[in-house]
Amino acid sequence: MLFKQQALLRQKLFVLGSLAIGSLLYLVARVGSLDRLQPLCPIDGRFGPRGQDEIPLRALQFKRGLLHEFRKGNATKEQIRLHNLVQQLPKAIIIGVRKGGTRALLEMLNLHPAVVKASQEIHFFDNDENYAKGIEWYRKKMPFSYPHQITIEKSPAYFITEEVPERIYKMNSSIKLLIIVREPTTRAISDYTQVLEGKERKNKTYYKFEKLAIDPNTCEVNTKYKAVRTSIYTKHLERWLKYFPIEQFHIVDGDRLITEPLPELQLVEKFLNLPPRISQYNLYFNATRGFYCLRFNIVFNKCLAGSKGRIHPEVDTSVVTKLRKFFHPFNQKFYQITGRTFSWP
Ligand code: A3P
Repeated sequence: MLFKQQALLRQKLFVLGSLAIGSLLYLVARVGSLDRLQPLCPIDGRFGPRGQDEIPLRALQFKRGLLHEFRKGNATKEQIRLHNLVQQLPKAIIIGVRKGGTRALLEMLNLHPAVVKASQEIHFFDNDENYAKGIEWYRKKMPFSYPHQITIEKSPAYFITEEVPERIYKMNSSIKLLIIVREPTTRAISDYTQVLEGKERKNKTYYKFEKLAIDPNTCEVNTKYKAVRTSIYTKHLERWLKYFPIEQFHIVDGDRLITEPLPELQLVEKFLNLPPRISQYNLYFNATRGFYCLRFNIVFNKCLAGSKGRIHPEVDTSVVTKLRKFFHPFNQKFYQITGRTFSWP
C-alpha cells in the first residue's frame, strides 16, 4: 500500500515537474523571440512624426499573426476598425531589376517590424489597364498595416517601362526607390533561364542563350534582345532621373545579398530611416538550398521558393566575354551616376 502511494506521488511529481520545465522553456523562447523583434526606438524622418512613432508590441503580434489573416481577407470590418488598421500606399518601391534578387530583398525587408510587404507584384504603373483603374484600386491592393508602419511593394517591370517614372512621380514625388542589381551578364543569363523554364513547362522549344544574345549577322551583341537591354542599367536609370533626384534611389548589390545579406539590408534600413532591427538571427544559411533563408522567430522560418536560385545553363565563354565587354562602359557610367561601384568585370 505504502509502495503504491509512493509510486503515485512520484508520478504526480514527475507530471508537475515536466509542466514547470515546459512552461519555463516556452516563456524563455517567447520572451527571446519577441525581444528580438520588439521595435523600441523611434523611426526617424517622414515615416512617422516624432512622439507617435513607437511601434507597440501588439503590432508585432499582428504583423506575424493577425495581419496575415487580414491579408487573406479573414478579418471582419470590426476587427480592422478596432485595431486601427489601414491600407497605405507604398512609401518605398522596389522598382527592379528583374532577376536582381527583388523577391529576396522584399522578403528580407519584411523581417523588419515596421515594414509590411505587398506580397504580389501589383503591376499598377506598368500595366495600362491596371493604371486606368486609378490610385484607389492600387491602395486597395495593399496589405493592412498600422499607420506608423511602411508598406513596400515590388514590381521589377517598373524599372524598364517607359511610362512608370512619371506615373510614380504623380503619385508621390518624394517616394523612396530601391533598385537591386547583379552583374549584368549573370542577370541576363538568369533572365533567360526563367523564360527557358517557362517554355519547357509548356513543352516548347527555345533558342540557346548564345543565339539570342549575339546577332548572327553582325556577330555583335544583340541589343534587341530584352534580357540584354534590361542589363544596361544606366540607360533605364537615366530615364528615371528626369523625374527623381539620385538621392531618392538606393542601389542594392544583388550579388552581395546572396552571399552576405545582412550588411546590404542594414544599408536599406538606413536609407529608409528605419531603426536597425534586422539581425544575423533573422538570416541563416541553408546548405541544401545554397541560399540564406529567413527566421522570424524560433518557430517561424522560411526559404524562398524553388523558382529563386535556378541552375543556369552553361554559356559559351566567348559569348560571356563579349557581353561583359559590351556592358563595361555602361557599368562605368552607372557607377558614376549612382556613386556605388561594383567589381563587375
Ligand atoms: P537565380 O535564379 O538566377 O539564381 P528575382 O527575385 O528578382 O527574380 O531574383 C531572383 C534571384 O534572386 C535568383 O536568381 C537568386 O540568385 C537571387 N537570390 C538572392 N537571394 C536569394 C535567396 N536568399 N534565396 C533565393 N534566391 C536568392
